[in-house]
Amino acid sequence: MPLVPPYIATLQPYSRGRTAEEVERTYGIARAAKMASNENPLGSSPLALAALRQSDSHLHLYPNGGLDLRRVLAREYDVKLENVIAGSGSEGIMSNIIRAFLCDEDEVLTTEAAFIGFQVLAKSRGVKYRTVPYKNWHYDLPALAARINENTKIIYLANPNNPTGTIFTKHEFDDFYRHVPERVLIILDEAYFEYAKDNPRYPDSMHYRYDNVITLRTFSKAYGLAGVRIGYGFAHEDLIGNLLKVKLPFEPSTLAQAAGIGALSDKAFLHRSLELNARGLRLLTDSLCEIGLSVVPSEANFVMVVFADAADAERVVEDLLRQGVIVRPLGAFGLPHAIRITTGTEEDNARCVVAMQKAVAAAGVMD
Ligand SMILES: Cc1ncc(COP(=O)(O)O)c(C=O)c1O
Repeated sequence: MPLVPPYIATLQPYSRGRTAEEVERTYGIARAAKMASNENPLGSSPLALAALRQSDSHLHLYPNGGLDLRRVLAREYDVKLENVIAGSGSEGIMSNIIRAFLCDEDEVLTTEAAFIGFQVLAKSRGVKYRTVPYKNWHYDLPALAARINENTKIIYLANPNNPTGTIFTKHEFDDFYRHVPERVLIILDEAYFEYAKDNPRYPDSMHYRYDNVITLRTFSKAYGLAGVRIGYGFAHEDLIGNLLKVKLPFEPSTLAQAAGIGALSDKAFLHRSLELNARGLRLLTDSLCEIGLSVVPSEANFVMVVFADAADAERVVEDLLRQGVIVRPLGAFGLPHAIRITTGTEEDNARCVVAMQKAVAAAGVMD
């Protein structure tokens, strides 16, 4: 198809994985446990849902581009309105960053097997996409610093990282930042910020308001609003000003903006989500390790399990599906021998451990 540039033709369409309903139908299961997409097992913040319902009397009017939410965020984080952007999920803002700042000769630098959404967005721009390997499943920040060249324009760092769940520390980031020229934009993707924020070693990027750092956050995870598509970012006013030029004028939607404002005030839901997640992380990590699996310690709302090879990972994913437990194979990220399991309800977590014991035995993974 000559109309399609080669860097688009070689992309793989996003594969969303199986829904609970599909798995229930296919395998004749009463209730499947979806632990594949880092969604919130408690559902959505009730205050977000209430705000969303209240906003439905204004749906004949165009939205105001996220202005109300930006105002609330500016107040909450003690920054200027000009330092805040709201968008259709943090991925929506990421897409605007790619459009606003990358020229053809520019290069993007990140870790191997980075968050799939970023990989696709950067590659779809047709620029050079460079990576360095993980070190013990963590970002290798010194190696990344050493790879910066005169064409590097964007460095993408997710903290906590998806799919490994690991963080880099304040100390590591401080060291790294010293090596980054001001002409390089650092995207600090903090989609899982809420889960890591109480770790004293975690570098909350709101304390790093450098001119070339843009922070991205989302309501999709800890606030349970993945289906609404609402995220936000903080950066220097020049960066935000240019992002506002390329962003679709009417994103985020009226409903999404209202839900985001409602969610921000829902401290009780956030607390419940974090508590449940912390218990889930402990249970999954300890129990899966006891089975003999290699589990990467996580600071997010999921754990990554690494198998000896891709065939083992595939067999386990298939067997779990047959038992009604949906997890995420990581081939598309570039880690075909690994899977990612999102923490669920107490019941789903326990069920996942039992299903994994059976799947591992059936697949002969430990033999
Ligand atoms: C690291 C990371 N960044 C961004 C996103 C996308 O978040 P949103 O739903 O706000 O677009 C995800 C979602 O899985 C993620 O894992």
